[in-house]
Amino acid sequence: MQDQQQQHQQQQTLLGEPSETTGTETGTETGLVPWKYCNVYANNRSPERLFVFLGHSIFIQQRLDEEVTIDQNTGNVVWDGAYLMARYLETWVKDLQGKTCLELGAGTGLVSIVAWLLGASHVLATDLAGPHIEHVEKNTSFNTKRIASERRQALQEAQIFAHDSTASIMRRRAIQRKRDRLQTIELKSQDLRVAPLDWTSPTLPEGTPFQGPFSYIFCSEILYLPQLHRALLKTLTKFADNHTIVILLWKKRGLGEERFFEIVSKSKASLGWHVEFLDNKRVLDSEFEDQPYGIARMTRIGNTPI
Ligand SMILES: C[S@@+](CC[C@H](N)C(=O)[O-])C[C@H]1O[C@@H](n2cnc3c(N)ncnc32)[C@H](O)[C@@H]1O
Repeated sequence: MQDQQQQHQQQQTLLGEPSETTGTETGTETGLVPWKYCNVYANNRSPERLFVFLGHSIFIQQRLDEEVTIDQNTGNVVWDGAYLMARYLETWVKDLQGKTCLELGAGTGLVSIVAWLLGASHVLATDLAGPHIEHVEKNTSFNTKRIASERRQALQEAQIFAHDSTASIMRRRAIQRKRDRLQTIELKSQDLRVAPLDWTSPTLPEGTPFQGPFSYIFCSEILYLPQLHRALLKTLTKFADNHTIVILLWKKRGLGEERFFEIVSKSKASLGWHVEFLDNKRVLDSEFEDQPYGIARMTRIGNTPI
């Protein structure tokens, strides 16, 4: 009974988060509720959410038809952590172009889409088999196909107008602005793939085009289940080599998230991981600076970044 109560409390702790920015708290329902502006993406309970990265719109479908509990359907919605991780990549990780990336527990796939947008050459978004990975597939394929075609069109227009002496200066400037906004790297939708991967038995299906080791591994909001920490560490170790950088981002919900790093430090000698905790106030979106987020980079000891 006590266990049940504890579990219920844990669920409340976890599930309390998405409602932080619901209509009530943003003051859209009644003047009696103090207006609280927490997140520009305050539409977090709508079936589709819009995010803008590098001048491109990313539309993410959320599955709101199923109950989200601590151990089921958590990937149906975008966690603020995924948004923060994606912003972190856009702002601070300058060398993603041409790199290989793996996302664990991708949920809606937002982080993988942004890594792909930043020019990574192979991105593999993974989650549990079945509806979980189908959800990742739906969001990633919809966005990568649309964005790749927007890019192609922007590049073609830029080329045509660069040589068109009859185009007005205004028109040329507008095309130039669009080109700058969308950047000029060509993107191919097939460079982002999805595959089922369960940390308790971390084997990618045969035929997965890229099996690792990966240059980067992203883990957003996946430390809240301490019973999976050992399996997670084993998975990281399997897909990393001495060049890999693992980026982890988590909210401190009191569910034992940081015990993961105790396991890492205890197994240091055998697995050889080094952990660097980053200053979240410095590297995360300033809107979230008062919230208890943790962000860390893990590398193998003797890591030689490329
Ligand atoms: C809280 S969600 C975070 C989703 C996404 N990273 C985000 O930040 O929006 C946790 C994710 O881990 C996945 N997950 C849970 N247990 C897993 C396991 N054993 N193996 C692989 N993925 C798992 C869930 O399906 C879910 O997508």
